[in-house]
Amino acid sequence: MKITVIGCGYLGATHAACMAELGHDVLGVEVDQRKRDLLTAGRVPFWEPGLEDLLAKHVAAGRLRFTDSMEEAAAFADLHFLCVGTPQLPSSMGADVSFVEAAVTGLAPHLTRPATIIGKSTVPVGTARRMAAALADLAPVGAEAELVWNPEFLREGFAVKDTLEPDRIVLGVASERSEQAMRDFYAPILATGTPLIVTDYATAELVKVSANAFLATKISFINAVSEVCEAAGADVVDLADAIGHDARIGRRFLNAGIGFGGGCLPKDIRAFVHRAGELGVEDAMTFLRQVDDINQRQRSRVAQIATSLLGGSVTRARIGVWGAAFKPDSDDVRDSPALSIAGKLHLRGAHVTVYDPRANETARAMFPTLSYAGSAVEAAQDADLLLHLTEWPEFRTVDIAAVGDVVRRKQVLDGRNLLDLDAWRAAGWTARGLGRR
Ligand code: UDX
Repeated sequence: MKITVIGCGYLGATHAACMAELGHDVLGVEVDQRKRDLLTAGRVPFWEPGLEDLLAKHVAAGRLRFTDSMEEAAAFADLHFLCVGTPQLPSSMGADVSFVEAAVTGLAPHLTRPATIIGKSTVPVGTARRMAAALADLAPVGAEAELVWNPEFLREGFAVKDTLEPDRIVLGVASERSEQAMRDFYAPILATGTPLIVTDYATAELVKVSANAFLATKISFINAVSEVCEAAGADVVDLADAIGHDARIGRRFLNAGIGFGGGCLPKDIRAFVHRAGELGVEDAMTFLRQVDDINQRQRSRVAQIATSLLGGSVTRARIGVWGAAFKPDSDDVRDSPALSIAGKLHLRGAHVTVYDPRANETARAMFPTLSYAGSAVEAAQDADLLLHLTEWPEFRTVDIAAVGDVVRRKQVLDGRNLLDLDAWRAAGWTARGLGRR
């Protein structure tokens, strides 16, 4: 089939390349010329394992190309995927849906044949209904320009796999015709037994934010428990292993540490609370505020623990920070807890040197006043304290003796509870985790 993908950021670039991989002819619509030029050259403007190879392969084969013209998009295909961003509004906790609105109002006037517009962006509930009405109003074909809401659940670092082999496909539809169009489109994925949930717009929109809110709640739950573990002399990793064996709870997303970040979880829970308020049911979502607070608190707690390890003041102390991305296998530093902690300590007067295997440059652009190193050992040079904040595998296999040779004081704080603390202690280090015995 021929499709367009409107908005070629993280979600759109991945969707475009993966749909080409499924055999579709794809036209990506991207207004940012720098991004469009990179994509046209088969390059991806961020780091995502496997994506650039896939994209380059399909660009070279002529199955994937890019434009900035909505007119061209409307002429090219009858299936149009909306993959634009919905960032947090600077003025409130709500989501900015102006890019979704602009995509719909930009495309609709060119729709002279029956078409299906498929929203994939994460939006406040009620947006799809509004966009469906706008489409019918603005499109020359009227109600034959139909909207489907099809939320995306991909994780950074696993974006290609999650897109090609999703856990489930969710469709919010308003007609049998558009449901059938989507069933036909996703036939290769559905043929592998992927569950399909067909529902209304509002439910589809809420599935996405509820999934992210639940994941965030799991993380803040275990982080809150980790603080009690620390006070009681218990161990949160043993505890998570034990409760995780209960299939109703599950072990995944129970890793206590410095908390969640990234472009989705933090903004999505805030937008969810905000939207609940607009709908008059804010009280039902009060707990999500706490989820956010606990998450922020973890960052302050790590800064506090670091300060106490340094004798009550960080001024002029040298701190080596391992990790800047919000998670491994990503160069994304949006709302990154690692960078936020590094920044807090820097602002309190510490000399902070950061090393991230992939995110040094994106981190430098966001926080230029920190120092950046080219390796884990270099970041530890003369350090009074080492912080492990993003769990890249190379930090777990680092040569502890080599690190010990360059630091000023052998102190390490594991903000991800993944280092072998016994091995560090055996090498003469003071080593502690969060909520560990
Ligand atoms: C998330 C959702 O998982 C995905 O389904 C949705 O489409 C987009 O948002 P992503 O932001 O890529 O994906 O990252 P995710 O793997 O969910 O991790 C989010 C944050 O939680 C990271 O900062 C991670 O370090 C943290 N986390 C995760 C924990 O602190 N503990 C855990 O146990 C798991």
